[in-house]
Amino acid sequence: MKVTVFGIGYVGLVQAAILASVGHDVLCVDVDQSKVDNLKKGIIPIYEPGLTPIVEETTKNGLLSFTTDAAVGVAHGNIQFIAVGTPPDEDGSADLKYVLAVAKTIASHMSEPKFIIDKSTVPVGTADKVTAKITEVLAGRNISLDFDVVSNPEFLKEGAAVNDCMKPDRIVVGTDSQSAREIMTELYAPFNRNHDRMIFMDVRSAELTKYAANCMLATKISFMNEMSNLAELLGADIEAVRHGIGSDTRIGYQFIYPGCGYGGSCFPKDVQALVRTAHGIEYQPALLEAVESVNAAQKQKLFKNLSHYFKGELKGKTIALWGLSFKPQTDDMREASSRVLMEALWQAGAKVQAFDPEAMEECQRIYGDSQELALVGTKESALKGADALVICTEWSQFRAPDFDLIASSLTHPVIVDGRNLYDPKLLKDKGFAYYGIGRGESVQAG
Ligand SMILES: NC(=O)c1ccc[n+]([C@@H]2O[C@H](COP(=O)([O-])OP(=O)(O)OC[C@H]3O[C@@H](n4cnc5c(N)ncnc54)[C@H](O)[C@@H]3O)[C@@H](O)[C@H]2O)c1
Repeated sequence: MKVTVFGIGYVGLVQAAILASVGHDVLCVDVDQSKVDNLKKGIIPIYEPGLTPIVEETTKNGLLSFTTDAAVGVAHGNIQFIAVGTPPDEDGSADLKYVLAVAKTIASHMSEPKFIIDKSTVPVGTADKVTAKITEVLAGRNISLDFDVVSNPEFLKEGAAVNDCMKPDRIVVGTDSQSAREIMTELYAPFNRNHDRMIFMDVRSAELTKYAANCMLATKISFMNEMSNLAELLGADIEAVRHGIGSDTRIGYQFIYPGCGYGGSCFPKDVQALVRTAHGIEYQPALLEAVESVNAAQKQKLFKNLSHYFKGELKGKTIALWGLSFKPQTDDMREASSRVLMEALWQAGAKVQAFDPEAMEECQRIYGDSQELALVGTKESALKGADALVICTEWSQFRAPDFDLIASSLTHPVIVDGRNLYDPKLLKDKGFAYYGIGRGESVQAG
């Protein structure tokens, strides 16, 4: 099938490459000239495990190509994906300007019927807005053409996006049209051989399904963070509690890790956007608001722990930081807890010496050259001359470090572990002051 994908970010690029890898003829359109130029040269703009060889192969065999020319993009596919960003607006609601800009572009250039798939995460009612925009532009051009707008939210996880697209848990499609069902079934048939993963529903339910999924996951995290704060105050160990509750199959072990708060491009913005949607219809989403505020407080926790250890005297200190990305296996630092920590440390007059296996370039792009931030090549060099170590991201290479080396490198034997990677007893025996999450001495978030 001939497919055009507008927006080659984490979602658009992975989806496009995977569709090309099964034989669809995919053209990607982006407004970012340098991204397109780089992709044409084989330079992949993001770190996503397994993506590079698929992009290389599909580009080579001509099934995946890139352009900034929207007219060429609209002419190429009878299927047009919208996979552009939906960042938070000033009030936290989803900003639809990029989605509606693509709708306008498609309507301005189309000269035959088009099948439009909304893959971006968008509030309930957006498909109606896209339909209205296309109708308005076609009317302005004085032509009448058939088109269909389908909601097809994306559930991939950064860091596992290739596998998630290859073997999705489910493919949610919101549409009331029979022909749309048939096209979507044909498009995704290669991913349905093992069993049928398609879940058809009405458009508004599909749009809400995406928010409900992310809000549920964010709720699990904030719930565990709240439990971890209680565990600290009550003298319990949250890791024992986690095992205790995870063994209940109704609860399960997934997504119940306490930590230093959720980040990334999705949870924070999607919880916020659903809260704003609720306010817009005069509903008070008490649970979602609590999820947000627990998370905001939790992101302060690492700084509070450091501040507690150094008795508020952080001026002039150098803090070693392991992990910058919002989670392992990605270079994405959007809303990462590391950013909240670094910015608080700088505010307090401290310096940061950081290492991350993949996110150093992204960190450099965000913060530029600074006296207060040294990005170093290894986790060991981050320790040199530092006063304390903080772990923000649970990359596997941080899981079993040489504690003797850490002890001899730091001027103070203190580890603030935002991901509960280490055994508090072992570290205590080795002479460290150890601050985990919900495991004894620690400072309350909030
Ligand atoms: N990142 C994730 O893990 C993830 C997962 C599921 C859903 N989503 C949703 O998917 C959408 C895209 O997210 P992302 O992380 O890929 O975003 P991104 O910011 O990485 O990429 C968006 C791309 O769209 C391009 N763009 C903007 N306006 C354009 C236009 N008019 N025409 C063509 N291209 C344009 C930008 O230049 C950019 O390259 C968002 O709604 C997001 O919430 C993201």
